[in-house]
Amino acid sequence: MKFFIDTANLDDIREAQALGILDGVTTNPSLMAREGIKGEKNIQEHYKKICDIVDGDVSAEVISTDFEGMVKEGETLAALHPRIVVKIPIIKEGVKAIKYLTEKGIRVNCTLVFTPGQALLAAKAGASYVSPFIGRLDDISEDGIGLVKQIVDMFNYYGYETEVLAASIRHTRHIIQCMEVGADVITSPLQPILGLLKHPLTDAGLEKFLADYKKVNG
Ligand code: G3P
Repeated sequence: MKFFIDTANLDDIREAQALGILDGVTTNPSLMAREGIKGEKNIQEHYKKICDIVDGDVSAEVISTDFEGMVKEGETLAALHPRIVVKIPIIKEGVKAIKYLTEKGIRVNCTLVFTPGQALLAAKAGASYVSPFIGRLDDISEDGIGLVKQIVDMFNYYGYETEVLAASIRHTRHIIQCMEVGADVITSPLQPILGLLKHPLTDAGLEKFLADYKKVNG
């Protein structure tokens, strides 16, 4: 399972990269705004900085909602760096843009996916990734992980190569559940990823090992 970090914060990206387990980054307009990055040029520069830190794919989202606008933005974003993947929302114009960009060799991450039907359309249009939003479904008492499983099973059944990128991850348990249902990729803020390390028996065991060593070695 690939690990992407879902942030535009350069320190968090550096920390995850330094761990040696980072496969990519996803961003969205809200995450860019959270870092105070504004204006087209600054946003583009920020994407380049992210690409300089990580080795893997970096998702950069369009803000247009019409076909021409999405294609123009997508081409500009893709030209920034070979590892940029253009993030397109699953709307009617978005499906057309996914098809167009994919045929031009530009990879797309289809975002804001909340149903298997939306994922199916994105895969048929040629998206490299589809991003079901787990946390936002859980927020409204729906089953986010259930959706990831439905999409994984559907893609396996039909042999789609589109990767299932589980997004809107809120806690460590979500990452484990994604692993259990076979998500290809998870994208998560840094803390839920670091949460995977935690276990009280690990801490207690390490403390005892070090204490025993010290007893003999001083
Ligand atoms: O990048 C899309 C997604 O991960 C957003 O997460 O927490 O805003 O629902 P969240």
